[in-house]
Amino acid sequence: MAAMKILLTGAGGQIGTDMLPILVARGDEVLAFDLAPRPDTCPPEVEWVRGDITYAEEVNTAVERFQPDRIFHLAAILSAVGEGVPHRAWRVNMDGTYNIFEAARLFDVEQVFYTSTIAAFGPGLDQPVGDQVSLRPTTMYGLTKVAGELLGEYYEQKFGIDFRGVRFPGLINAGIPGGGTSDYALFMFVDGMREGRYAAFCTPEAMIPFMYMPDAIRATLELSDAPKEKLTQSIYNIAAMSPTAAEIADAVRARIPGVELTFEPNEALQAILDSWPDALDDSRARADWGWNHEFDLDGMSDDLIPKVRALIDEPQHA
Ligand code: SER
Repeated sequence: MAAMKILLTGAGGQIGTDMLPILVARGDEVLAFDLAPRPDTCPPEVEWVRGDITYAEEVNTAVERFQPDRIFHLAAILSAVGEGVPHRAWRVNMDGTYNIFEAARLFDVEQVFYTSTIAAFGPGLDQPVGDQVSLRPTTMYGLTKVAGELLGEYYEQKFGIDFRGVRFPGLINAGIPGGGTSDYALFMFVDGMREGRYAAFCTPEAMIPFMYMPDAIRATLELSDAPKEKLTQSIYNIAAMSPTAAEIADAVRARIPGVELTFEPNEALQAILDSWPDALDDSRARADWGWNHEFDLDGMSDDLIPKVRALIDEPQHA
């Protein structure tokens, strides 16, 4: 695949932070767009623009000047934070996403890649949950993500923008969590090592789909690069593993001797988890563009532990 110009919204977030060096390594020219200042982790080759996706002028200025081939739209307010500040989730996830599509239309961006989520689904679905089911989410985050999926399909039909994306499971990496309800899994690793203990806000039986970040980034790039004629839909479920919270805790305990992991369920957060799928059926992604996950719970845990240790050893996290 020839090098491309890629604009990344939410570049300083949980996904963007890990994606930037991978894009640079494959030779892409990258403009990182984020509210936050440039972090030390940002590769020097990347241009960093501080901007707010809720202001159309800021988005338009960046897109008009940089002329990206593709926009990877990662910026969003996640589920747990979104329930606390629903107006902010609406503004960022709805108005912000609209501004991205408008900029893509105005300045002839070829492809917009959208990061949807397991939170696009609501309760009561048959498991594992397929792509083509009724989307009835019960969170502000979920409903804005469904709207984003529909908006993208509208822009594709009406204006010919190549629109595609994935529904991510809860994502786990050696990073700083982004305010999602799936963050208990990440905290078990990070706080388990940093503090020696963590009390999860869910029940031990809580079960949602999860994915290790390297798989999530590879899925994004593989779907973004896939020949359009192979795709039979725009948004794909992708899956890797569906451990219970107790099973994740056991995987952490096996690798961090003496760690204390307990469960203190928060009713509101547990209700969000209960409204999401236990497991996703991603057979369409596997059939259409060859998706295959690499990491299961044990593979992820083995790979992650040294990375969490390195993160904690950095002076700013000590
Ligand atoms: N990780 C997200 C959240 O918990 C789900 O997409 O909000």
